[in-house]
Amino acid sequence: MAIRQQQERGAPVLEVRDLTVEIRTKRGTITPVDRLSFTLRGGEVLGLVGESGSGKSVSMMALMGLLPAGAARVTSGTAFLGGTDLLSVSPKRLNSMRGGVVSMVFQDPMSALNPVMRVGDQVMEAVRVHHRGLGRKGLRARAVELLELVGITDAGERMNAYPHEFSGGMRQRVMIAMAAANEPAVIIADEPTTALDVTVQAQILELLQDMKERIGSAIILITHDLGVIAEIADRVMVMYAGGKVEEAAVQPIFDAPRHPYTASLLASMPKLSGAVTTMRTIPGAPPDLLALPQGCRFNPRCPLADGRTECHTRAPELVHLDGGQQSACHFPAEVEKAFSRSSDQIEEGGERA
Ligand SMILES: Nc1ncnc2c1ncn2[C@@H]1O[C@H](COP(=O)(O)OP(=O)(O)OP(=O)(O)O)[C@@H](O)[C@H]1O
Ligand code: SF4
Ligand SMILES: [Mg+2]
Repeated sequence: MAIRQQQERGAPVLEVRDLTVEIRTKRGTITPVDRLSFTLRGGEVLGLVGESGSGKSVSMMALMGLLPAGAARVTSGTAFLGGTDLLSVSPKRLNSMRGGVVSMVFQDPMSALNPVMRVGDQVMEAVRVHHRGLGRKGLRARAVELLELVGITDAGERMNAYPHEFSGGMRQRVMIAMAAANEPAVIIADEPTTALDVTVQAQILELLQDMKERIGSAIILITHDLGVIAEIADRVMVMYAGGKVEEAAVQPIFDAPRHPYTASLLASMPKLSGAVTTMRTIPGAPPDLLALPQGCRFNPRCPLADGRTECHTRAPELVHLDGGQQSACHFPAEVEKAFSRSSDQIEEGGERA
């Protein structure tokens, strides 16, 4: 199968170009995703970070064809997955691809699972959609196998339970089993561990990585937690107010961010100073999408913007820098020096971004 062949490590699997989404709101039409482009490669975990409202979920929902009908629409872009453009394919075809070649894991598995349907039946249904020829016995065997694979003990018996009889972590395991059921080329995980406690978070992330190794899917992982990114992502894409502001492999992003927003996010990570963990926050707030600043969208919060006309008049384009890093800043070379000098610009005492 063409998509399978493309899953070779490092080969592009999903190529998104100029994805733009508009949503009609009561106050006016916003553009929560503005010309987003990126390439997902075989076997990699691409981390997607950015503050609340930066457009992470909306961009992924657009790719899945799951935007709220009526109010939201994709106004431009292509998203090629194995020769098919997810953004222009018919709803029927996209429906058949969903779960088959691209699937999604959500933050809250309870909202994605059917509360009145037995867990086993739901997993069997996820398998059946893409394996119409498989009889009930075959479906059941595959569902048990999947539940065992994601670490549900006594899977045969647990098949008969309802979602509310499972813990949050077990429900998320079931969601991952369903997302992985058809060995999709791409799994999109939107904050899959945010609702879980810390030890379960670690187990679920380990499970995602394990599934990736087993079935060879590439993963897009949305998270607020840069610690998670450092641990399991290969590359990182940073979004701010609907656009990508930086992209790079994990190490360069942590060692030498080339966008002040990324540097601010990193500076806001909890730091151990003596025995005390200090939480910091980026001053200011993301812009109102109906009243975006002139020039660079980050300028009201940027420590480098003072007195610089370019920052206030011209929106920076994404540029490719050495080492494959991309940054949408007029002064990428100045970021490192500015932030090593003045991490004091970041206020203490707030929440993590
Ligand atoms: N159904 C909707 N109707 C109106 N506005 C929406 C809708 N869904 C999203 N938005 C707006 O689109 C923007 C992007 O939202 P999105 O959910 O993608 O953010 P996010 O980066 O996923 O944030 P979070 O980290 O909080 O999940 C926000 O300004 C949000 O208010
Ligand atoms: S373009 Fe200017 S305002 Fe925008 S991030 Fe770069 S330095 Fe800051
Ligand atoms: Mg979101």
